[in-house]
Amino acid sequence: PRHFAIVPAAGSGSRMGAAQPKQYLDLLGKPLIRHSLEVLCATPEIDKVFVVLSIGDAEWKRYDWSDLGPKLVPLFCGGATRADSVLGGLRAIVHEAEQSDWVLVHDAARPCLARWHIEKLVRELAHDEVGGLLAVPVADTLKRADAHRHVLETVPRDSLWQAQTPQMFRYVMLRRALEAATNVTDEASAIEAAGLRPRLVEGDATNLKVTYPLDLHLAEWILENRGS
Ligand code: CTP
Ligand code: MG
Repeated sequence: PRHFAIVPAAGSGSRMGAAQPKQYLDLLGKPLIRHSLEVLCATPEIDKVFVVLSIGDAEWKRYDWSDLGPKLVPLFCGGATRADSVLGGLRAIVHEAEQSDWVLVHDAARPCLARWHIEKLVRELAHDEVGGLLAVPVADTLKRADAHRHVLETVPRDSLWQAQTPQMFRYVMLRRALEAATNVTDEASAIEAAGLRPRLVEGDATNLKVTYPLDLHLAEWILENRGS
């Protein structure tokens, strides 16, 4: 099977509170989204990289992406939610993808994706029926609280993981799961709702999602201090 990346990049970045969507914020001299697109395009295992942009995106065309090569394909078909954007991308590539091809969905907002993250995910899931996702074990002690912030219980963290991306599933399975799902924040939960069991592949904390302004500084530090 082939491996296609779908990069949802049609969000508005409301929690970041910046003037432009966070995927276009400057990170070490390039738009934030470019960092992970470069890694995805440079990884031989990945056959194509589809970026899902909002229909009215005016920023994408302001940059030159041609050095990333013919693997990179922008799709102006973003939706109202992340799941809608991913589904729009899946529908747009229907003539390209075979049933059992793998789709790796990666957040545009995770600029510190490293080649080894992709390679480990692809390697560990190559013979899996369902697929799975990068994740890291939860480090903090977790509390469940009521509306008044009184602690109800401490949630044992030993079996808890933080979900990251890429999340890698078979084309048709993922499309059906997302078409049936409501209110999911990642692909894995759609797959779970379909009664299947995604597998966790341990990544690391460097693959953070840029959500708040502090995350942008952390991402900058990670990229600058990464031995390339
Ligand atoms: N995304 C998308 N389409 C949407 C919403 C989100 O493609 N309708 C993408 C974002 O561009 C981002 C990824 O999904 O790359 C993860 O979403 P998130 O971190 O929530 O980004 P935003 O929705 O842009 O940020 P916020 O929730 O703070 O508004
Ligand atoms: Mg969001």
